[in-house]
Amino acid sequence: MMFPEYRPRRLRRNEQFRSLVRETRPAADQLIYPLFVQPGKNVREPVSSMPGVFRISVDQLGAEARECRELGLNHLLLFGLPDKKDSMGSGAHAKDGIIQRAIRELKNKAPEMMITTDVCLCEYTSHGHCGVLIDHGVDNDATLEILARIALSHARAGADMVAPSDMMDGRVAEIRQALDENNFDMVPIMSYAVKYASAFYGPFRDAAECAPQEGDRQGYQMDPANSREALREATLDLEEGADILMVKPAVAYLDIIRQLRDEFDLPVAAYHVSGEYAMIKAAAAKGWIDEKRVMAETLLSIQRAGADIIITYYAKDMARLLREGKF
Ligand code: PBG
Repeated sequence: MMFPEYRPRRLRRNEQFRSLVRETRPAADQLIYPLFVQPGKNVREPVSSMPGVFRISVDQLGAEARECRELGLNHLLLFGLPDKKDSMGSGAHAKDGIIQRAIRELKNKAPEMMITTDVCLCEYTSHGHCGVLIDHGVDNDATLEILARIALSHARAGADMVAPSDMMDGRVAEIRQALDENNFDMVPIMSYAVKYASAFYGPFRDAAECAPQEGDRQGYQMDPANSREALREATLDLEEGADILMVKPAVAYLDIIRQLRDEFDLPVAAYHVSGEYAMIKAAAAKGWIDEKRVMAETLLSIQRAGADIIITYYAKDMARLLREGKF
């Protein structure tokens, strides 16, 4: 029997060779770190289902942003918990709302840090849905105008990019038009183009107190069984003016990330969501897995699937690992 001429092990011989031929390299400047902002002063409240994640008050944001910058992170994604909720989610576009205050604070204390905001109603509505309710259903077209107002109020407060996560039809066009008409034509839209109705958002809903009081989100978020539909959703957002297409969750949808990467030439982002984070944390706490290695391997898989940008609660830990040169 002829021995094969090609021996894959030749290039695995040591780290110098392995890194010479390494195809995928995570980088801190392509990570986005989500932050939860809540009212009060001096607040740093742990989220029990997401160890290592805190809900912090506005006065803490400057220090947090500086720490992130020192680690090489350039982008934050903000979620807000308002003082009070109502049926229309009016706190979401209040001039002095929690997110608007947070943006101003961050732009003041860490102007080089890029701020993206989540544009949605669910954290601000008393019923917890991502749009307004009319006759017990989430009304698509009545929600659009409110979403545009939210995005505009974020841009006015100084947001660098907006990220609509509501999954209403037509919202990217509505938001783009509102931004353009008000001289915010340079503010990009990172659309949650392909967002599945997923159980992996469970811990986030604890953190942001936004679980729907009644019903679920299957009437607007996508069916996890569908992949052709993901391409239609992404096409619509592209045509409506999205600058970045996002897939969410990430790990359970690596095939979708790859399809978007192959079909579109826009940057593709993937959201490594709360449940995906919490599962690693829980197994690590039991001593069943090596947390850092599983974290790195997970983020690598998302990048390898085709994501240019990864949104993850592990951003700081990953940036630290990269800095230590251990990856
Ligand atoms: C809200 C929103 C959600 C997430 C991001 N934006 C929750 C949801 O749609 O229920 C989930 C993020 C995570 O799980 O980490 N529109």
